[in-house]
Amino acid sequence: MNRKIFAQLVAQTNNDVSKITSDLIKETFDVELDKTYDTIVDYTVAIDNKCLHRYFANHWDNDMKKWKHSGLALIDQINDMKPRAVLDVGCGYNEFKGKIHNLIGIDPYNNRADHEIDIMEYRSMEKFDIILALGSINFGGRNKIIAEVSKCVNMLEDGGMMFFRVNPGVQHIKPEAKWIEFFAWNVPFIIELSEMFNLKVLDIRDDSNQRKYFIYRKVK
Ligand SMILES: C[S@@+](CC[C@H](N)C(=O)[O-])C[C@H]1O[C@@H](n2cnc3c(N)ncnc32)[C@H](O)[C@@H]1O
Repeated sequence: MNRKIFAQLVAQTNNDVSKITSDLIKETFDVELDKTYDTIVDYTVAIDNKCLHRYFANHWDNDMKKWKHSGLALIDQINDMKPRAVLDVGCGYNEFKGKIHNLIGIDPYNNRADHEIDIMEYRSMEKFDIILALGSINFGGRNKIIAEVSKCVNMLEDGGMMFFRVNPGVQHIKPEAKWIEFFAWNVPFIIELSEMFNLKVLDIRDDSNQRKYFIYRKVK
């Protein structure tokens, strides 16, 4: 859950959900909801989703060339493995489509994705031998991150590999990113997840722009 939004709602309403109005939501977060909710947690999830949608659909832009390890360099690295099925989670503008073989891009907020869907909603008949999560499992608190990584592990074949780019919690500077919570990834958490999900850490490196790049293999 997004703790910035939750804390703001609690502070503004003195923890009283009945004080949440559409005007308050509009004035504070500049988004509009199409229904009301019974709890502050539910409001938090709905507002967070709107803020992520607004930012990633309309304001965020990317330059794949800027990444030392987790950008264009991945194309040959992954194709050399002759992948049977690659899932790009949070593919953004789907820039690897047609470049990395057998790749499907999913993203709930970008209409260039093959499927406009959240990782937690995505269902696939097949398992993937490679999963990419490049800057996309990075929003919200620890439990959300763990749930999203767990979902990826379940969609990965035994012996398959996951490639990550993660942000150590650096806020994006555009004003529309103000209410997004960037989870502060660090190396101990990368190791903790590997132990939690029986993954082998094959590589961890500093990438450009303070990001970390790492690779897990799902142990058979
Ligand atoms: C920083 S961008 C990175 C995009 C792309 N992977 C890249 O490297 O350029 C993060 C992406 O994650 C997507 N995203 C956010 N939450 C997501 C979720 N729950 N499931 C799937 N994608 C998500 C966003 O829409 C956005 O396109």
